[in-house]
Amino acid sequence: MSATPLGLPVDQTSHARLAADGLTLARLDPADGAAYEAWIRAENRGFLQPDPTPEVIEHRRGYLGDDRIMGVWDSSLPHPQVPVATTISWIADLTLPGGGAAPTWAISGVTVAPTHRRRGIARALLEAELRTAVELGLPLAMLTVSESTIYGRFGFSPSVLARNLSIDRRRAHWTGPVAPGRVHLVSAEQLRSDGHPIVERVRAATPGQVHYAATSILWDRQLGLPVGDDNAKNLRFARYDDADGTPAGFAIYRFVEDPADFTQHELRLQTLVAATPDAYAGLWRFLLEMDLVATITADLRPVDEPLRWMIADFRAVRSSETDHLWTRILDVKASLEARTYAAPGRIVLRVEDPLDFAAGTWALEVDDAGSATVTATADTPDVDLTVNALSSLHVGGVSARVLEAAGALTGDVARLDAMFRSPVAPYTSIWF
Ligand SMILES: CC(C)(COP(=O)(O)OP(=O)(O)OC[C@H]1O[C@@H](n2cnc3c(N)ncnc32)[C@H](O)[C@@H]1OP(=O)(O)O)[C@@H](O)C(=O)NCCC(=O)NCCS
Repeated sequence: MSATPLGLPVDQTSHARLAADGLTLARLDPADGAAYEAWIRAENRGFLQPDPTPEVIEHRRGYLGDDRIMGVWDSSLPHPQVPVATTISWIADLTLPGGGAAPTWAISGVTVAPTHRRRGIARALLEAELRTAVELGLPLAMLTVSESTIYGRFGFSPSVLARNLSIDRRRAHWTGPVAPGRVHLVSAEQLRSDGHPIVERVRAATPGQVHYAATSILWDRQLGLPVGDDNAKNLRFARYDDADGTPAGFAIYRFVEDPADFTQHELRLQTLVAATPDAYAGLWRFLLEMDLVATITADLRPVDEPLRWMIADFRAVRSSETDHLWTRILDVKASLEARTYAAPGRIVLRVEDPLDFAAGTWALEVDDAGSATVTATADTPDVDLTVNALSSLHVGGVSARVLEAAGALTGDVARLDAMFRSPVAPYTSIWF
């Protein structure tokens, strides 16, 4: 990788396309405080968030690393310094089946001002982001999305699903293993240092997890630490320590009161991270035995949550499934070689990609150890699929049989499933 996110020039194709419409695509230098403030205000406006205070903006600026902040400006406006469109992107490792990680272009903060929508600005920005990722030598791009209708057209596809849970606590009597360690109530500051190594242990073992540093806003947000977080004072933190005192898991949650009945609180579980089965059991039991709570709700839980098998009443847990992490393969060889496979063999994939990054016919050969070699080939394909379908299969949690039934691919589905399915269900535990 020769170029760096901050060293790379602005994508000229999208620059020219937007210039033809009287708009300027440029990279923002966050050292320019006034320009950064205008950019943050525009981003918040796009997501219907309240206007942030100068303190909040300054604090957030302190988190920036090699993030590439892009904007589109319209010089004909009364306030031309406020961008009419925003994106912010950075390189983050995405864990893949087998425990390897691929450096991935994480795209966030995609907004277009309501006055400038549906005239192709987001398309110009997104295509620029994908070309930028290619220039950086990154094999794939990823995002978590506000609406699931936007990104398929750019080759992204849901790769990691998530479950939202609602638990009738009084029916969910604990029948699971008794964890030998202890649960402690801790402060946000304490968890800030103790919790991140646990996050890292889980990340290494779980496909779909996205790396964030211990100093990043993605970690501090979970803890309610960034300035101006209105939710912070309501957050509670519990840490599970193994019998030998080593922290192995934590939960972050808050209570919502039912004003009509003090015994009917809702416990909203924001995060539960467990590096061991004991930590998982210890933390869930702790939450399920919370007095004055009628319901536990939890969003963004893994699809293979074992909880139901650890309580007296399977039906105490209701769940709904949703898409969460969307990925987009840009470099087929590098993406497919970055993971391991569940079965050896050879399969030839013909990939269709309207944006051309991944298009071609590729032979994937997997050895007995599960390692892959990918080469361009003129052989007859065993499977025909879109880059969207390949991106979903790649992270290991989406079934080829389901995609075939949905009309997203044709060919040797049994072999695809045998090779691509991950024994550990992919899970992405954050929004970004
Ligand atoms: C989503 C958003 C960025 C789109 O910006 P935009 O400049 O209007 O989009 P474009 O004009 O470039 O549209 C590109 C394509 O996406 C489609 N599209 C745009 N917004 C869409 C939406 N919300 N739902 C479905 N399709 C959408 C357009 O129809 C167009 O399709 P086509 O090129 O296949 O004809 C903008 O509506 C926005 O800021 N929304 C609020 C913030 C948000 O949700 N951002 C996404 C964060 S993940």
